[in-house]
Amino acid sequence: MKRRRFIATCVVSAAFTGGMLTACNQGGTGTADSDGAQTLVMATSADYPPYEFVETSGGTEEIVGFDVDIARGIAERLGYEVEINNIDFNGLIPALQAGRADFVMAGMTPTEDRKQNVDFSEIYYEAQQTIVSQQNSGISTPEDLAGKQIGVQLGSIQERLAKDLQEEGGIAMEIVQLNRINEIVQEIKAGRIDAAIIEDAVAEGFLQANPDLQVAVIPAEGPSGSAIAFPKDSELVDDFNTALAEMQASGEIEELVNKWFRDRGN
Ligand code: ARG
Repeated sequence: MKRRRFIATCVVSAAFTGGMLTACNQGGTGTADSDGAQTLVMATSADYPPYEFVETSGGTEEIVGFDVDIARGIAERLGYEVEINNIDFNGLIPALQAGRADFVMAGMTPTEDRKQNVDFSEIYYEAQQTIVSQQNSGISTPEDLAGKQIGVQLGSIQERLAKDLQEEGGIAMEIVQLNRINEIVQEIKAGRIDAAIIEDAVAEGFLQANPDLQVAVIPAEGPSGSAIAFPKDSELVDDFNTALAEMQASGEIEELVNKWFRDRGN
């Protein structure tokens, strides 16, 4: 494995919306370990199984998932170590802009708006939008959302989609923005909101664990799918794209798709 050597001045800084972040000098990249491997800081919002979530076993907590495995695969190819910081989704792009993370993997969709502030890799996984509600809610199309309270994650494309349905589609609904997907699911189960807009793979996972819920896929225009985000003009983009392409070609991505999206739960 190729190792990179470099010297960096880094400060492990105060907690930032719940996660420890490493702030560094010019270049924004992390510390070198005893082997000389440079550590990259990945920021994520680990509320998004199977992309990223916190697994607790034997009293220890670890952030695992599809994105984490891809990040580790890329890092290994490029000779980096990865340190993961868990923060709210809405804080991810600001963390990149402030140089507190080298990249973000969070099932993040490369939208035109976000491209004003960060750079993206190629898309590595496609997604669809769904409406999640209590079983027998009678809610299965965007029109059914009229007059209802709809949960979305703050800062997500689902929030944008709900606003578009309202503003352009003329579907009057009350949009409830929450920070974490599991809070949104809890609010539906408790009957405090009527439904939520959530991506298909994530919604399916929650459905398996909560048979009292239902999921309906909705046609959504606009961008979908996940890409890796970087600070603007980051030198990592090309290397990451090359590593991603290699992992596609070798079948590694397909294996991870099977591991996290197809085989889970059985
Ligand atoms: N794909 C959507 C977006 O980019 C939602 C991603 C939410 N990710 C998360 N880790 N909670 O806005």
